Amino acid sequence: MPPTLGLLLAAAAAVLLLLLPPPPSAGAQETCWSGPAPRRGAWMSVASFGARGDGQTLNTGAFARAVARIARRRGARGGTLLYVPPGVWLTGPFNLTSHMTLFLARGAIVRATQDTSSWPLIDPLPSYGRGRELPGGRYMSLIHGHGLQDVFITGENGTIDGQGGVWWDMWKKRTLPFTRPHLLELMYSTDVVVSNLVFQDSPFWNIHPVYCSNVVIANLTVLAPHDSPNTDGIDLDSSSNVCVEDCYISAGDDLISIKSGWDEYGVAFGRPSSGITVRRITGSGPFAGFAVGSETSGGVEDVVAEHLSFSGVGVGVHVKTNSGRGGFIRNVTVSQVTLDGARYGLRIAGDVGGHPGASYNASLLPVIDGVAVRNVWGRNVRQAGLIRGIRDSVFSNICLSNVKLYGIGSDSIGPWRCRAVSGSALDVQPSPCAELASTSGTGFCT
Ligand SMILES: *[C@@H]1O[C@H](CO)[C@@H](O)[C@H](O)[C@H]1NC(C)=O
Ligand SMILES: *[C@@H]1O[C@H](CO)[C@@H](O)[C@H](O)[C@H]1NC(C)=O
Ligand SMILES: *[C@@H]1O[C@H](CO)[C@@H](O)[C@H](O)[C@H]1NC(C)=O
Ligand SMILES: *[C@@H]1O[C@H](CO)[C@@H](O)[C@H](O)[C@H]1NC(C)=O
Ligand SMILES: *[C@@H]1O[C@H](CO)[C@@H](O)[C@H](O)[C@H]1NC(C)=O
Repeated sequence: MPPTLGLLLAAAAAVLLLLLPPPPSAGAQETCWSGPAPRRGAWMSVASFGARGDGQTLNTGAFARAVARIARRRGARGGTLLYVPPGVWLTGPFNLTSHMTLFLARGAIVRATQDTSSWPLIDPLPSYGRGRELPGGRYMSLIHGHGLQDVFITGENGTIDGQGGVWWDMWKKRTLPFTRPHLLELMYSTDVVVSNLVFQDSPFWNIHPVYCSNVVIANLTVLAPHDSPNTDGIDLDSSSNVCVEDCYISAGDDLISIKSGWDEYGVAFGRPSSGITVRRITGSGPFAGFAVGSETSGGVEDVVAEHLSFSGVGVGVHVKTNSGRGGFIRNVTVSQVTLDGARYGLRIAGDVGGHPGASYNASLLPVIDGVAVRNVWGRNVRQAGLIRGIRDSVFSNICLSNVKLYGIGSDSIGPWRCRAVSGSALDVQPSPCAELASTSGTGFCT
């Protein structure tokens, strides 16, 4: 079969797969996105822009030329699919454009160059005021989008490999000049699907939609060593209407976290994360399985996370903020969680994470109103949980129900510790702290 025909068939098969209706009921799972995949009117292979999948050739220019060509079509006849054939495609960072599908074939690896000096710097995010790690700008992500609409980043389980080791070493040796790059960052974008891919060895956070709406993230494998610094799996930041499902994540920091900017910069920018669904996530890592925070200065609300299964994590569910953050965390429900191996089952804490400046505005106090944690079963958990508010602020409507946590092997589990919080607890093992009076609660908790 001539290669072009093979590629056409592969692309057609992928589109067909996405067009198939979901299997009929009988326990059919809810999915984030079941609409038809865009039938792109044109497709191009990155190989026809001079790229070589030999693992040696630097293909940054070829990716940029391909994307520029797609941008010139301006979405004509349904946009364009950019096909990345099997092979190892070494590249520096490149931008995406609107109305495109970046499609990684089975066996395609888009691999980041280790020449860190060639990575462009971009402005800090307005809601962070500076790079997250260091003052000033930050390195552009390997795959980057700004102000886009209608973008699919998908494939047949192809891989996006950040080769992050060089960056982790710079972090360890304290020789980083600026904040490390993400593997994929999309800013100010809407109607985005990221699916059916492997992300590995990100220099910093793996996947970072920020100031986005209508985002679907599904069927991903995200891998980074547990000792790789700050390799968060998926960080949803100041974004709305986001759905994440069916991902396996094993990484060096929080597996999934919901954020909305940092201290006074996040408060001033004022863009919350809201309308977030997270479900069917499994994984492991040294920090949180599922987190909200700690950067929540623009507010986080209307979050549902369910069917989470973590083994060997630091904290099963971690809701974290700090004095100086301001913002709010409201209407967050986490349910159907299984844990096997955790230092803490649950933490809700008002003293986590650093500040962008040497001093912070202590009158910017965060408020938590409504965090429900239901139907949790965990074993090999060292301590049940820590639920600690901030004096002078309000952490209320923290509701636990049917939360059953057991110790390591036959050891008994460490108790709940609470302070400056209120809420309710029903059917909780070990027995809950007095701050969560054992009542059915009122309002949010009922
Ligand atoms: C990416 O796009 C931005 C505009 O959104 C532009 O400023 C930047 O130069 C582009 N970077 C590269 C590497 O193409
Ligand atoms: C995708 O690749 C990952 C890593 O090799 C593997 O664990 C996963 O099962 C694959 N998924 C599919 C659907 O083939
Ligand atoms: C994820 O995989 C499932 C099962 O293969 C498929 O039905 C679903 O459409 C995929 N999701 C996306 C967004 O591609
Ligand atoms: C809480 O969030 C859920 C999920 O987004 C939403 O359906 C519900 O309407 C919200 N409740 C309130 C009172 O806003
Ligand atoms: C600290 O925050 C408060 C509340 O928003 C504000 O009124 C005050 O001006 C801020 N102080 C400084 C020094 O920025």
